[in-house]
Amino acid sequence: MQRKLLVTGGAGFIGSHVVRRLVARYPSYQILNLDALTYAGNLENLRDVEASPNYQFVHADITDEAAMDRVFADHVADAVIHLAAESHVDRSILDPLSFIRTNVLGTAVLLNAARKHWAGRSDVLFYHVSTDEVYGSLGDIGFFTEDTPYDPRSPYSASKASSDHLVKAYHHTFGLPVVISNCSNNYGSHQFPEKLIPLMIHNIVQRKPLPVYGEGLNVRDWLWVEDHAAAIDIVFHKGRLGETYNIGGFNEWKNIDLVHLLCRIMDRKLQREAGDSASLITYVKDRAGHDRRYAIDASKIQCELGWSPSLQFEEGLERTVEWYLAHPEWVEHITSGSYADYYQRQYIHR
Ligand code: NAD
Ligand code: DAU
Repeated sequence: MQRKLLVTGGAGFIGSHVVRRLVARYPSYQILNLDALTYAGNLENLRDVEASPNYQFVHADITDEAAMDRVFADHVADAVIHLAAESHVDRSILDPLSFIRTNVLGTAVLLNAARKHWAGRSDVLFYHVSTDEVYGSLGDIGFFTEDTPYDPRSPYSASKASSDHLVKAYHHTFGLPVVISNCSNNYGSHQFPEKLIPLMIHNIVQRKPLPVYGEGLNVRDWLWVEDHAAAIDIVFHKGRLGETYNIGGFNEWKNIDLVHLLCRIMDRKLQREAGDSASLITYVKDRAGHDRRYAIDASKIQCELGWSPSLQFEEGLERTVEWYLAHPEWVEHITSGSYADYYQRQYIHR
């Protein structure tokens, strides 16, 4: 079957894994990667697929109405997988408006373009990729299900919750065919080293302090990024219209335990003495409004669509560390320029 598929944010962390998977698995699809190439977007992530006949890149901003209108008119896409977003919670605390602009306004602009160009069509799909953070924060027990009421608590999660609501509103009001997934924390190759795992790897290599927020007792549910890409593939092809699917790793870790595990792996890989990396751990001021615990009940996607995570966390973490150690040039390129400014501001902020 032939399809013209617009993937937004394909130059980012998760988007590049999704694009790589789709380009390889579906040679009869045309995959159009649309990305504004912000500090987090990097076409080096897709070097291995850029020459593929079923891949194309468009440099554009999803908040640009005229550009989105042109993209839909020129490429006649019949499906969208929407990943483009500002994605880092700490940045949303420093600069909430850029999150509202891209995540809320940008999603609305895309929805409008889809609605206009797909009027009267039922053979189309707008797939919105979202986060478990829309559900708020859990206590020591319980899980987020698809029925958990929305309770976003950071500018990032509030902007993602708004975008989810807009997608549902376009489905309900205009009959736009949509599907949404809400996923837990991803880790793996090509993640910008501002997020916990790649930041810690980067700092261990450079023997810099490892900043653990608060007491390090917050809990996250970690999923290997390629398992998320596989879930997105399945939801895209088999998800029921208008439905939400939660995606998670069944893999909860307290931050401090995860950082210690990473330190042990790094000591071994770098042939440093046991305990060397852990000596860099530095407790710093907590993130404002820091959500305590996220944990996903992924039984709906498991039972209905037959997806489950494929990789054990320890194995995934080893692979991730190996990738970062083998690609210092990637880290070097992506961390020059705007990253350096941000990194410095972060420390001033604390
Ligand atoms: P990322 O920050 O690595 O990548 C975002 C991409 O979007 C970049 O390539 C960037 O250039 C692009 N982009 C940003 N603003 C844009 C704009 N205005 N127009 C066009 N492109 C723009 O993010 P990620 O971690 O890969 O997350 C991708 C999506 O998945 C996001 O919607 C995020 O909310 C969601 N998500 C992420 C995680 C996670 O753990 N990283 C978990 C669940 C859901
Ligand atoms: O749950 C899904 C979300 O996971 C995604 O929607 C977001 O896009 C993604 O960034 C991620 O959000 P988190 O805030 O959970 O991820 P982050 O890697 O920033 O932080 C993970 C945990 O580690 C969190 O409890 C904060 C803590 N932390 C983070 C950093 C960067 C530290 O203790 N020190 C740090 O330096």
